[in-house]
Amino acid sequence: MGVRFRGWGIAVPDKVVTNDDLSKTLDTSDEWIRERTGIRERRIGGSAMTLGVAAAEKAMAASGVGPADIDFLVMATTTPDRLTPATAPMVATRLGLTCPAMDLNAACSGFMYAVRTAQGLLETGNRRILVIGAENLSRWTDWNDRNMAVLLADGGGATVLEYDESGTDILSFVLGADGAAADLLTCEHGGFIEMNGKEVFRRAVRVVVESAEEAMAKAGVTASDISLVVPHQANVRIIQAATQRLGIDMDRAVVVLDRYGNTSSASIPLAMDDAIVNGRVRPGELALLTGFGAGMTWASSVVRWS
Ligand code: UT7
Repeated sequence: MGVRFRGWGIAVPDKVVTNDDLSKTLDTSDEWIRERTGIRERRIGGSAMTLGVAAAEKAMAASGVGPADIDFLVMATTTPDRLTPATAPMVATRLGLTCPAMDLNAACSGFMYAVRTAQGLLETGNRRILVIGAENLSRWTDWNDRNMAVLLADGGGATVLEYDESGTDILSFVLGADGAAADLLTCEHGGFIEMNGKEVFRRAVRVVVESAEEAMAKAGVTASDISLVVPHQANVRIIQAATQRLGIDMDRAVVVLDRYGNTSSASIPLAMDDAIVNGRVRPGELALLTGFGAGMTWASSVVRWS
């Protein structure tokens, strides 16, 4: 059964917050944030709904599809506008969709989980699925906590997945979850996001490497076949460590966290869109999409661009 990626679209808030801006109110510095994370600035503002709608409008336009062409909306978000209802139905209505719509929370792996869910929905008779990853992490950030405030940001990204009998872009998928690690990265109701950064870092590198190796093996390819790595954008040092262990040159990895920070489920589509805009996605080539996040959850997939 074939699945094709159609167009992509992203949305980020207009407001740019630099490391120097944060240094005015927090005991931190541009130098520390750049060296420890790779982040230079981030975008703050909007909501999961507004960013999701804006990204989806661009993805639908890039895909050449209208509201009536979409059979299902799967929206990955860790930061829904409300606890209930889900954000997806409100996004759908604003886009003029009349199809089913649901939220999915797998934290920073959310976009990948949503793509996998969409793949399953295409197998049960749907023809086109709108997949969105959009986050409003700034709302759940304690701006007095330098541990989290320097990392988190807002943004959205989207794509349209289409059923195609003739072939498939998705060659393999590996998903995982480990609730024993739930307390490492958490946000209680009414609270703020908190993290054991060192332990998350250590585990992130491990699950990215293991799931990526498994995804490549399932697809019958090796690291040297991968032209592009599209990783979750949490910390450039995690991307460096993982690509090095996988034996993939760092210059094959897409990095946008310098401009956007960590936008959780929006980060992989933000990176994907950047690769497309910069001509780094070439037909026939293989890409490795890989993410990890709270849960812990993780996901890797090998994709061949058609
Ligand atoms: O999206 C998925 C979830 N997120 C992640 O995957 C993030 C994973 N973790 C990380 O990226 C890194 O662990 C961090 C960026 C969070 C932290 O980097 P680190 O290299 O692990 O730093 P650290 O926590 O070991 O802190 C080193 C030092 C400490 O000072 P001392 O004890 O050496 O004196 C911290 O107190 O840096 C200090 N520090 C800071 N200094 C300036 C911690 N945060 C800051 C800060 N500015 N914002």
